[in-house]
Amino acid sequence: MSEPAGRTYLDHAATTRPDERVVEAMLPYLRERWHNPSSIYVEAQATRRAIDEARETVADLLGARPEEIVFTSGGSESDNLALRGVLAASRSRGQHLVTTAVEHHAVLDTAEQLQHEGATVSLVGVDREGRVDPAAVAAAVRDDTVLVSVMHANNEVGAINDLAAIGRAVRERNPRAVLHTDAVQSAAHFALDVNRLGVDLLTITAHKLYGPRGAGVLYVRSGTPLAPQILGGSQERDRRAGTENTAAIVGLATAMRLAHEEREADLTRDRALQTRLLTELPRRIPLLGVTGPRDPAQRLPGNVSVVVGFVEGESILLALDLAGVAASSGSACTTGSVEPSHVLVAMGVPPDLARGSLRITLGRENAERDVDRLLTVLPPIVERMRALSPVRVAAPPEWAPWLVS
Ligand SMILES: Cc1ncc(COP(=O)(O)O)c(C=O)c1O
Repeated sequence: MSEPAGRTYLDHAATTRPDERVVEAMLPYLRERWHNPSSIYVEAQATRRAIDEARETVADLLGARPEEIVFTSGGSESDNLALRGVLAASRSRGQHLVTTAVEHHAVLDTAEQLQHEGATVSLVGVDREGRVDPAAVAAAVRDDTVLVSVMHANNEVGAINDLAAIGRAVRERNPRAVLHTDAVQSAAHFALDVNRLGVDLLTITAHKLYGPRGAGVLYVRSGTPLAPQILGGSQERDRRAGTENTAAIVGLATAMRLAHEEREADLTRDRALQTRLLTELPRRIPLLGVTGPRDPAQRLPGNVSVVVGFVEGESILLALDLAGVAASSGSACTTGSVEPSHVLVAMGVPPDLARGSLRITLGRENAERDVDRLLTVLPPIVERMRALSPVRVAAPPEWAPWLVS
């Protein structure tokens, strides 16, 4: 299956099309094996076995033990459970949380809510490429820090953090602090081993790696203090109540297995298309700057994030949509005004320039023809929009460092 004729999907970081093989693996658990896995009869046992097998597959791929895997409804729930669960289970030790200014809102908004409830939160900044400095994280850690949450890879600019180094720096400062990472964006691209990463908690969601929406994982290292946040049943070893969504869990495990098996092909395709766009876009569009890491080893394969001077990201998206291209922007339109992305602002991008952000994320839907199409349609869109703009002034000097190619 591919996009309807005339459409080009360049928004894989938002979500991905469920792989046909994933859908096929899920269907029996919607049609025939729909029984409650907690029930005693033989039909229920078949669904229980499917969940056990999925748990083993996921654990195996993460270098974890099956009992350390908690199935959730996705990335947001896993992030909420990690933050709220650790703080609730650590009241006697402290209520200090360290996280970063560029996290997904599933972490940032939860941290803010915890602050209203009495916790103290320290937000660590990032460098101009969106990366977190391990020393800066360690400097924010205190004796009463119970949790440090740093994303593995950023969803807007693709910056990859060195979690092993962050973990070492944190433990040197406070060996009891728990380390959580949101690995939602990196799980589609890299083999994640919880021991090599040195994390105690790790969030994954299925729909970013060609699995179904509404299925996720929180890896919980044995011995990590974690209070359940959904009560009412003993599922997931008392860590998350609710009758299991067998089909979604099977879909998640299948998608993770396929991502593992097809890693090389996915990586080669995404990197090639990414490199072409990162090279060609600044060449073809004046006053356009690439945001995020320059070094491909520090950037998610398939992430192309840019800022375009004198246009708004949202307007480019609407024009691209009319031209048959689906992409994304870090800026969000709230109550009529365009808010620059919190990630770009934390990196130091001037807010006016950040309003012209555009995120293109490549994946299994894509081939060279899609890059060709974007390179054909985007330059005239930007040119048209700039021509319509009532005020034409020179780029302010503070934009200069962001527009070098
Ligand atoms: C980095 C990151 N964390 C968390 C989430 C939320 O995941 P979900 O949509 O499964 O709740 C997303 C999705 O956009 C994400 O990109």
